[in-house]
Amino acid sequence: MGDRPYVLLSCSISLDGYLDSAGEERLLLSNDADFDRVDAVRAGCDAILVGAATVRNDDPRLQIRSAERRRRRVKQGRPEGPVKVTLTSRGDLDPRARFFTHGDGEKLVYCPDPTVPELERRIGPLAKVVALGGEVRMDALAADLGARGVRRLMVEGGGSVHTQFLIAGVADELHLVVAPFFVGDSRARRFVGDGAFPWCAERRAELVESRAIGDVALLRYALSDRFER
Ligand SMILES: NC(=O)c1ccc[n+]([C@@H]2O[C@H](COP(=O)([O-])OP(=O)(O)OC[C@H]3O[C@@H](n4cnc5c(N)ncnc54)[C@H](OP(=O)(O)O)[C@@H]3O)[C@@H](O)[C@H]2O)c1
Repeated sequence: MGDRPYVLLSCSISLDGYLDSAGEERLLLSNDADFDRVDAVRAGCDAILVGAATVRNDDPRLQIRSAERRRRRVKQGRPEGPVKVTLTSRGDLDPRARFFTHGDGEKLVYCPDPTVPELERRIGPLAKVVALGGEVRMDALAADLGARGVRRLMVEGGGSVHTQFLIAGVADELHLVVAPFFVGDSRARRFVGDGAFPWCAERRAELVESRAIGDVALLRYALSDRFER
């Protein structure tokens, strides 16, 4: 595991810990100043990962918005945007999703071995399908990204993906943004599900920064001794 990328988890939640509403519409939890901060964090990463449900529900572009940041990356000899990464076991991904249609950069889809034929049929040449055995484990996924030259990975959710990276201990830094309102509906997705997290009452994570960004609060936690101060 020595050469896995540095893994930074990023997400925004409501005051009651939800990632979204229970409805169809995507819920905007953050504000413009914070979206710009996230854009800057993205620009510093080699790859961005979201789960397949986030690709289906939110249809994110996962690109760097600022032209200046894109230019700076190219000047440094890096691709304009980070490699886009997702994972699926059902293989239910639409080739018209912005994940596939936006940006010329590399796109990777991780899946268990049996899903490969269905995925290749659906998304064809739009992305590289990478099989990781009987199940996709976050340590194996991170190691594979490391072998592909990814040094810094940003994980942008959703809850299922955050839960697995955290429980596996494949996490070095957490950026949690808290929006000043409640969702109040337990049908909505929470930041994480149940599990044995390495950070518990006996082993507290280290809070390294707390900052107001307009009306939201950014909480930054160091999760490993690889944390970059
Ligand atoms: N507030 C925020 O910062 C933020 C950020 C991102 C997302 N969200 C919200 O979060 C919600 C989605 O979260 P979620 O927890 O439901 O879904 P998710 O984490 O985005 O994706 C879960 C899906 O990813 C695939 N997957 C996860 N682990 C896998 C594994 N080990 N092997 C193979 N495939 C795996 C599966 O896809 P298949 O079903 O295709 O097999 C699974 O259904 C959305 O409502 C979205 O709006 C919020």
